[in-house]
Formats: sequence, structure tokens, C-alpha cells
Amino acid sequence: MTNVGIDAVEIWTGKLKLDLAETFAPEKGDDPAKYTKGLGLFESSFPDTYEDIVTMGANASKRLMERKGLEPEDIGRIDVATESSFDNSKPISTYIAGCLEQTFDGDFHHANKGERKFACVAGTQAVDDAYNWIRAGRNRGRSAIVVATDTALYKRGDPGEATQGAGAVAMLISEDPDLVELSSDQGYGSADETDFLKPNQQFPSVDGKRSVQVYLARMREALVDYESVAGDIHPEDFVYAPFHTPFPGMVRKAALLAYRHITRDTEIEEELAAEIGRQPREEAFDDWDDYVEAVQEYTDALKGTDHYADWYDATIDPTLDIARHVGNWYTGSVHVARAACLKRAYEEGRDLTGERLLVGSYGSGAQAEIHHETLQDSWEEEIAALNIDEQIDARYDLSFEEYEQVHAAHDHSKDRDFEEFTAPDGEFVFDGWGRMGERKYRFVE
Ligand code: COA
Repeated sequence: MTNVGIDAVEIWTGKLKLDLAETFAPEKGDDPAKYTKGLGLFESSFPDTYEDIVTMGANASKRLMERKGLEPEDIGRIDVATESSFDNSKPISTYIAGCLEQTFDGDFHHANKGERKFACVAGTQAVDDAYNWIRAGRNRGRSAIVVATDTALYKRGDPGEATQGAGAVAMLISEDPDLVELSSDQGYGSADETDFLKPNQQFPSVDGKRSVQVYLARMREALVDYESVAGDIHPEDFVYAPFHTPFPGMVRKAALLAYRHITRDTEIEEELAAEIGRQPREEAFDDWDDYVEAVQEYTDALKGTDHYADWYDATIDPTLDIARHVGNWYTGSVHVARAACLKRAYEEGRDLTGERLLVGSYGSGAQAEIHHETLQDSWEEEIAALNIDEQIDARYDLSFEEYEQVHAAHDHSKDRDFEEFTAPDGEFVFDGWGRMGERKYRFVE
């Protein structure tokens, strides 16, 4: 069977940052620990005035193509996943291809381009589409570029304002990939939910508390579905478990429930029995509420065990290293989580070739997807090429007043009339509107 997966990845962060503890919390009258400890977030990335989903996606794609020595003719497909699109007809992938054609010889006229929408899970769906295209033998030896790009902004005053972010992830999907092979085993948890939506409006309508519950319910459903094809999971099967990270605190909640699930009927449950008892079984209870209460008690006790803390520190915590400093990137978020844990492994000099990741994506509305990925021989070279730390460190630190200006400048209903905070350097920038209301872009040397 053809080995298909992610050949390379590049990450592009918005060039501004909002310090949540130092700058945002005091203005909101909040304890900074709500952000750093509760949500697990220190900073959010924001786009400068000349940045948007196209520039960030095109800049990440340009780095990707240059690093892998690719020309447009090597690419048979460009798909963009976003929930921040500004056009209901013309896909963002056409704008990105147009940008790239300014700097590469040749064109993408024979590449299939599209746009995927299903909240934050769309990035993973676009990767799936590329995988299926290659596995179907329709790629003519070419690769696909998948770009997950978002400006995740909430209405001013919305509780979601704490979890904003902006950035893009570009991924090259190829036969015989250098980074990870994707499993054909997959699990889904999907239901018609009303937790987060943008009915023809720029900023989302969000029921934040409900979205947390829906994330957990759909993820659990996907896990059970995944196990029905891949077999029961054991905590030691996977070196890392990158999950969709709207904020690290969300992943902390999901990880605890997942650990309870995957340790059930294992030797770990037995080892823990002396300390916290065995997991409650539904059949042992006459009353549903008593069962739920017992499960809650067990879960609370599980959280305090060394077994759980050790697994969490090794398998989950490294996936949050980047999210803590950039916030939610919607479609890009799970792909940032993958890069984060592999970066940690690279920095620690770990040999992970042949090891597996358990990857969990989620999109409000709502759908979760779980699959696994196997690390390939050249994973270290791919991860060593990332420059996300330098980008994060170089961001301009916004004051609260400047944050208010930036938010207003990216509000489609308002005029953009403020100066940029950073100077573009060797990148695509927004260059005003054309005669049909299209956005225009140019490359700045
Ligand atoms: N020290 C430590 N922790 C603190 C704290 C403090 N001083 N103050 C608050 N916290 C904790 C809270 O206990 C809570 O943790 P918990 O959920 O484990 O109890 C966490 O910080 C957040 O506080 P909360 O009061 O719930 O925040 P909020 O009401 O402002 O909203 C969201 C949080 C996530 C609902 C909101 O940011 C949101 O709507 N986000 C967008 C939607 C989203 O990302 N959904 C996720 C699924 S996709």
C-alpha cells in the first residue's frame, strides 16, 4: 500500500502579540492566573495591518516550497482550510496560488484548488482529501499543499477574547513522506451541535461553556470509533497525543478523560486500584446519577495520581509548548500541537523513528476525528528546519490601546486606518482592494 503522509510543515505566526497576564488581565480586572493557570495561555498572536489569512498562508507555503526545492509543477493540489474567509465564492487557495506565482517560475494552472469548511477540524479534513487523492492514484507523482490559516478573533467583550490567535500552518502531503505517515484507521464523532458558529458574520456566536462539553463528547465518540477499527488503545502505544488546542486548559480536561478511558481494563487500572479503587462500571449501579457521581469521584482522584501526572507530562504537555504563546489558530491548532511535541523531542535528542502519535482534531458544530501517525526516518531534519521560536520572539508586544486598534483594524465593518507596527521583510503583504472588491497582494523584498 502506498505510504502517504505529511512530508514537511511550516508555521507562520501573526507578527504582533498580546500578553494576556501583563496587558489583558489588568484591563479586564482579572487575576492573571486565570489565563496562565486556568486557560494555560500566556500570549496570543495577532496579525499586523498588512497581514491576513492569505499573507500568512502564502508566506508559510513559500517557505515550505523553497525548503523542499519545489516548483509549481510539483504541486497538483492546493487546499485551504479556514473559518476566517472573506469571500463566499472565490477560495483563499486561489489568492495564495496567485501570491506564490509572483515569486516562483511557472504557475499552478494544473493544480486543483479548493477550500474546506468545518470549523477547526477542516485542516485535518483537507489533509484527508489530499491523502485520498494520492491513495486513489490521481496525483501523477505530484504533492498537495494544505494550508490551515485563521485570524481567530472574537467580538470585543466576548469570553472567547481570551483565547484569540492568528497564524497559518502549511503542510506538504506526499507519497513516501519525510515527517509522518498517516494511518488509514480513523474514528469520527459527529453531531449537529450549536456551540460555535458564524452565520454570515465575521465574529463567532459562541456558547463557550457548551463548546467545552461538546468537544469532550465528540472526542470521546471519535475515540471509541477509532478503537473499533484500530483496536483498544493502551497509554504506551503513543509517544505523544497532539489534540486540537483552543486553549491548553481544554486539552487538560480532554486528556484526563482519555486517560481514564484508555487505562480501563489494563494493568494500570489494577496498579492504581490500591490507591484510588477500580473504575466504576455502569452495570454495578441501579441509579444513573450515582454512577455519574462515582465516575466524577474516580476521575478527580485519578488526576492526583503519579501514574496520570507522569503520562500527562510525557505525552500531552509537550504538545502545548507553542499554543501557550500563540493562542488558538482554529484550523491550524492541532497541526501546531503536532509540531510542538516533535520540536520538544528534537530538542531532547529523542530517537522516535517508527513511533506513533495519536492525533485528535475537533471542529465546533461539531465533529471530532482521531487517527494515528507514524514518525518517518527524516522527521528530525523536518522539525529542525522550523523557525517558529524566532518568529514568536520577534513579535511586537502590543499595549492594550494598540490591541484595541489592531482588533478594530481587522474588523471588516470598520475602516482600517492605523500604521503598521512592524516592517515586512521578504514576505507577502496585503496591498489594498481591486476594482471588483478583491483583495490584492504583493511581495515585499
Ligand atoms: N487561578 C487559576 N485558575 C483560574 C483562575 C485563577 N485565578 N480564575 C479562573 N480560573 C480557571 C477556571 O476555574 C476555569 O478552569 P476550569 O474550567 O477547569 O474550571 C478556567 O480558568 C477559565 O475560567 P472561566 O471562568 O471558565 O473562563 P470564562 O468564563 O471567561 O470562559 C471559555 C472560558 C473557554 C468558555 C472562553 O474563553 C470561551 O468561550 N472560549 C472560546 C470557545 C472555546 O475555545 N471553546 C473550546 C472548545 S472548541
